[in-house]
Amino acid sequence: MENLPRPTLFDFHGVSMTRYFTDNWDNVQNFQARPDDILVATFPKAGTTWVSYILDLLYFGNTCEERQATVPLYHRVPFLEISIPAEFGAYAGKDQVNSLPTTPRLIKTHLPVQFIPKSFWEQNCRIVYVARNAKDNVVSYFHFDRMNRVQPEPGTWSAYLQSFLEGKCAFGLWHDHVNGWWEKKETYSKLHFMFYEDMVEDTGREIDKLCSFLGFSPTPEDREKVITGVSFDSMKKNNMTNYSTAQGLDQKVSPFMRKGKVGDWKNHFTVAQNEMFDEHYKQKMKNSTLQFRCEL
Ligand code: A3P
Repeated sequence: MENLPRPTLFDFHGVSMTRYFTDNWDNVQNFQARPDDILVATFPKAGTTWVSYILDLLYFGNTCEERQATVPLYHRVPFLEISIPAEFGAYAGKDQVNSLPTTPRLIKTHLPVQFIPKSFWEQNCRIVYVARNAKDNVVSYFHFDRMNRVQPEPGTWSAYLQSFLEGKCAFGLWHDHVNGWWEKKETYSKLHFMFYEDMVEDTGREIDKLCSFLGFSPTPEDREKVITGVSFDSMKKNNMTNYSTAQGLDQKVSPFMRKGKVGDWKNHFTVAQNEMFDEHYKQKMKNSTLQFRCEL
């Protein structure tokens, strides 16, 4: 993986993608979901790892200490569409999901709603979508692309911001991603929509809402254990959640558990960039009822 070539973006059915997320396309589309599978869907950097770990602790936190101590979260909650070529380790997320020993299976995806394999809908699976305000999301994505060989070279911050607004980041235009999933909520009742900012504001409250969606009632002690275990500081220290064991990531360039804040965009956007971003945002979101908080 250390020599994995940085991929380039191309248009894939109207969405910018890289080969690492499309090489295994037919297999991914034919994925056979089970009714109790739980899909965690996000635009990259919206809080995928955080919610994945909450789910993992809720379901399996008490069942197997060894698993908690030795299996990295990215193996417990595989990334469905990823596929790394044979010469760099031959890794396919779909195969990992199919080898999961646990029930329910927790599965991660960044696919826009129109690309979700149809068996998830047929099986009426529970889906948790996490969204994060666009400004913090793009900042987090920029730093992630700097440190991650699976992602295209980000270039400078100002060039990256421009590309983000043109939908030229892996998984396409943020606005289309969040709006597509938000609209799906109207017709698909097993979709729970969460906001990163709400989780920062009150993690316990958001865990309670998630549990009610899952039909899950943790004991007060277990609930507290989950809240403590998923704090930013705990997850940053925990080698099973901080991606320190993952290949292809250079945490010296930028740590995976970077800041975990709402409002870090203010340290990156110039006044002019902010005005341009807001103007573009107004246009793209004018028909949407989605509301985000860019500060708390
Ligand atoms: P920052 O880069 O802003 O710090 P994903 O898991 O979707 O890749 O998202 C990663 C982002 O979520 C990073 O944001 C990371 O720090 C943040 N994050 C992960 N765990 C978190 C937690 N427990 N609390 C707050 N933020 C968290």
